[in-house]
Amino acid sequence: MEGAVGSLTSLDMVLLALCTVVAGLILQNLLGQKAPAKPAAVASPSRKQPSSSSTSSSAPGGGSGGDDSEVLRPTSDAAAPPSASAARDPAPKGAGMPDQPVAGVATPFAATQVGEPDSNGHVAFRYTGMPAAEAAKRAAEFQALMQLRRSVRFFAPTPLPEGVLERCVATAASAPSGAHLQPWTFVIVRDRAVRAEIRAAVEAEERLNYAKRMKKGWVDDVAPLVSGLHAGGDVTKPYIEDAPGLVVVMEQPYGREADGSRRTHYYPRESVGLAAGFLIAALTNAGLFTLTSTPMGAEAIIRTSLGRPSNERVFLLMPIGYPAAEATVPFRAPGAERKPTGEAAIIV
Ligand SMILES: Cc1cc2nc3c(=O)[nH]c(=O)nc-3n(C[C@H](O)[C@H](O)[C@H](O)COP(=O)(O)O)c2cc1C
Repeated sequence: MEGAVGSLTSLDMVLLALCTVVAGLILQNLLGQKAPAKPAAVASPSRKQPSSSSTSSSAPGGGSGGDDSEVLRPTSDAAAPPSASAARDPAPKGAGMPDQPVAGVATPFAATQVGEPDSNGHVAFRYTGMPAAEAAKRAAEFQALMQLRRSVRFFAPTPLPEGVLERCVATAASAPSGAHLQPWTFVIVRDRAVRAEIRAAVEAEERLNYAKRMKKGWVDDVAPLVSGLHAGGDVTKPYIEDAPGLVVVMEQPYGREADGSRRTHYYPRESVGLAAGFLIAALTNAGLFTLTSTPMGAEAIIRTSLGRPSNERVFLLMPIGYPAAEATVPFRAPGAERKPTGEAAIIV
């Protein structure tokens, strides 16, 4: 739901924007670290079959911007029952994900733990920097790269290069988080039937959003962005099925201890927003495009389709791929594609 942007806090928006710029530096740093591998926190649909849980909702909320009561009002703390189509996917949780950190890849500088932890659990951290000229060059190159990013709503059927999406998601999962509790799950949706379920739910809810839930100013603000998808007055989201990749970013407002009790998460929304920014930067770095989208009203249905537990809620829905040959984007005057840097950033 495009309009959900308006219901995000300003902090959410600032974080998403900031991390998109900052993430690439960290992204580049990630490659080549030599610590032992640890799987990324990525899941395919859960196989758990709980007795009950919150399921669908016709009311908006539960997403990034709205009242999340529908998603966070479980009748059970177990995982949502996966839809029939989700249950068909035999892939084990996290299967096929690249190790993180990455071994054997050259990086422009070194930053690494050295030695054994002291009595406080800290370890020496050694950094070998890069020449100033190289830093300036890389900063400019990265800015230019990120300026190429546009939200794309029309995708080519071109398959993604093998392993690239998984690598980008692993990068997203390297973001900082409150108390390092990593309150996120990235669900890579490969199951076509689940994709169809999600699209149907999002389109149905979006029709209600436009008909009943959104004020006129909201509709007017987003109309130029989505005009190509609303031909004939209907609301369509073909990219949910057309894009070769689809990632649902799940926020965990709270976690689970091994015994099932609640684990408090700190700043989960800020943390997952940063991770989403990392994902966007990583995709852009790999020449891929996405649409940051907020499926207002369909969050609980999507969570159920994915078989995710009650302590997760849909944060963003991100189709991923290459622009279709006939893709369009909202026009922006050349050289004025974004807010001038002097407005976006000030020096005090
Ligand atoms: C938090 C957030 C939510 C968004 N939700 C939607 C959405 O539901 N549907 C949509 O078409 N675009 C959505 N967008 C994309 C914005 O419309 C887009 O980022 C904005 O118009 C700037 O265009 P650009 O990304 O091409 O620079 C969202 C963007 C953000 C950051």
